[in-house]
Amino acid sequence: MPNRVQVLFGIQYPIIQAGMVWCSGWKLASAVSNAGGLGLIGAGSMSAEILQEHIRRCKQATDKPFGVNLPLLYAGIEQQIEVLQQEGVKIVFTSAGNPKLYTPRLKDMGMTVVHVVSSIKFALKAQESGVDAIVAEGFEAGGHNGREETTTLCLVPAVVQTVSIPVIAAGGIASGRAMVAAMVLGAEGVQVGSRFAVCEESSAHQAYKQAVWQAKEGDTVLTLKTLTPVRLIRNEFCERVRLAEAAGATVEELKQLLGKGRARKGIFEGDLQEGELEIGQVSMLLNHPEKASAIVESIWQEFCDVKKQLANTDI
Ligand SMILES: Cc1cc2nc3c(=O)[nH]c(=O)nc-3n(C[C@H](O)[C@H](O)[C@H](O)COP(=O)(O)O)c2cc1C
Repeated sequence: MPNRVQVLFGIQYPIIQAGMVWCSGWKLASAVSNAGGLGLIGAGSMSAEILQEHIRRCKQATDKPFGVNLPLLYAGIEQQIEVLQQEGVKIVFTSAGNPKLYTPRLKDMGMTVVHVVSSIKFALKAQESGVDAIVAEGFEAGGHNGREETTTLCLVPAVVQTVSIPVIAAGGIASGRAMVAAMVLGAEGVQVGSRFAVCEESSAHQAYKQAVWQAKEGDTVLTLKTLTPVRLIRNEFCERVRLAEAAGATVEELKQLLGKGRARKGIFEGDLQEGELEIGQVSMLLNHPEKASAIVESIWQEFCDVKKQLANTDI
């Protein structure tokens, strides 16, 4: 029996490939959707024109459902929404902003809207704004993160208890085993970021992918906590931020230190010292290139195998 997340999106497996700046263009999103999951184009690193191009190419590459991740804090948001409407995009995952500002409009345009949260408070706010589902993203996750630092293991059951709409778990999920754990906690789907960020169809730079495969336990850190917390691989840029924060830098000083285009520099251009190398703690388990379709298949296969094993054990 398909669950609420499978029905909501019309997908075979409740496995969602996260929208990720500089990683998830049409190639990755269409590969995941063709494999039976839900692929998301990451609009956060795209102008409205580039986004339109990616949506069009995605439509050519798959006849399966796909969506767009729309971070709500960027200046070009109005033009991006226009493109979504023009292109008839059906599924939108919003993040990094107030869902009350955009959800009613996106719903009026006939879209299925999901919002990403990192706390119970924001889960409630998202539900009140009328979204169809919530992504509960824990502290382990790559990219931008909540100030509360709640782990996936604590956040998912807490959000499931609080809201009545379907919950999709994210943060530290890169295997079928982790998917079983998330579903046992009450999630009805998983959003996987880091493992797809370094797959073959990801548009990230090869040097960034190598750095992720080499990352060991403790190599990522939640940084820029007083500005916009983001999980990165430790490098010279992170060290400068750490020293500035320890010296009591103001928000303005941190903004200056961050400057513009750090994520592009790190993820897309492969500058391993000066760029932001966004990735989750689960990078400690990733060590080789894979095709996106192989990731979907292996997560689903392991999920089914582990469920069977558990059903056959007494404890
Ligand atoms: C390289 C990278 C870029 C990301 N960019 C975005 C983004 O543009 N918008 C967003 O909502 N989340 C973004 N995230 C977070 C993911 O959408 C996802 O929720 C997270 O990666 C899940 O945790 P995991 O990395 O442990 O799988 C990004 C994550 C990574 C690793």
